[in-house]
Amino acid sequence: MTDVNTHEHSDHPVTSGRLPVADVPHKPRRTDVDPKAARRAERQVAGMFTLSVLFVILFVVAYVAIPKDANVYIPVLGLVGAMNLALGVTMGAAVFLIGAGAIQWAKKLMPDVEVVQERHELASEPADTAEAVDQYERGKEESGFAGYKIIRRSLLGALALFPIPLIVLLRDLWVQPTDTPNPQAELETTIWRKGSRIVVDGSYAPVKASDLPVGGLISAVPENMMEVQEEEHTLNARGKAAILVVRMQPDEIRSQQGENWDYQGILAYSKICTHVGCPISLYEQRTHHLLCPCHQSTFDLADSGNVIFGPAARRMPQLPIGVDEEGYLVALADFAEPVGPSFWERG
Ligand code: FES
Repeated sequence: MTDVNTHEHSDHPVTSGRLPVADVPHKPRRTDVDPKAARRAERQVAGMFTLSVLFVILFVVAYVAIPKDANVYIPVLGLVGAMNLALGVTMGAAVFLIGAGAIQWAKKLMPDVEVVQERHELASEPADTAEAVDQYERGKEESGFAGYKIIRRSLLGALALFPIPLIVLLRDLWVQPTDTPNPQAELETTIWRKGSRIVVDGSYAPVKASDLPVGGLISAVPENMMEVQEEEHTLNARGKAAILVVRMQPDEIRSQQGENWDYQGILAYSKICTHVGCPISLYEQRTHHLLCPCHQSTFDLADSGNVIFGPAARRMPQLPIGVDEEGYLVALADFAEPVGPSFWERG
């Protein structure tokens, strides 16, 4: 069924007396009367669906065969990731061909039946229409829109150009930046160093092992966070260095990311979810599970911070810790794995 008329068909009585469009007699399509045209249309539709299959296969080939770091130069856009481009083009073509084939099928081959759908009169009462027109005219008059020609024209010009910045911003979605720091490299290191004292986030008080009871948890940063505060990119540094320190019974620890990276059952993990980077501090001390509130990824801190549920693809990076000569908790090194989200490929 392709043609749906909302007006009265000639076989039906006219109820409203006002027809929005002319009541045209139904014309059969070429494919209804010419079997050759129908077969041609059938071949076109089948051809589009088959081509779509071909593009899906090309999509898979592109995903497997094109190196992730290969780029192609496109005039105006600049350097574009070759794989992204190929995936976008092949997937777009596959979806387009299915849609175009379906439309062609419906327009040319599916039964062409006209039906009538009875509807209420949609037009407003004449008094309401007159009131609306009156209000519009009064608004136009009072705003001076008609009188101030220069203002009107400059406003229309401004509104016409307004979408341009949005289009420019969209460019960032497909062009690989060349002059900004590589996010992958940015997340490889943090400001944690061997001997950095672990201090409570907010009060910057150093933490002794004896300060943290079994089952306890604190949010912490390195003590040089204060100095870094003065410098640029503070938020980046803070985000990357934020950790959670938890304490459990040493015999409850089933595995760690390095040998003896705990101190008497005290473990430190990055606080930034490896899914898309939400800060986490929902810790269940009985199970040692850490739950991300954003998409419910759950990590087992007694078992190397491994993912046990949710969309995160990587475990939470663990910070090796010990104590200094005064008994304060310190880092023994930086994280061995990149912290933060994993939505781009890492080398
Ligand atoms: S950001 Fe943590 S699960 Fe998505």
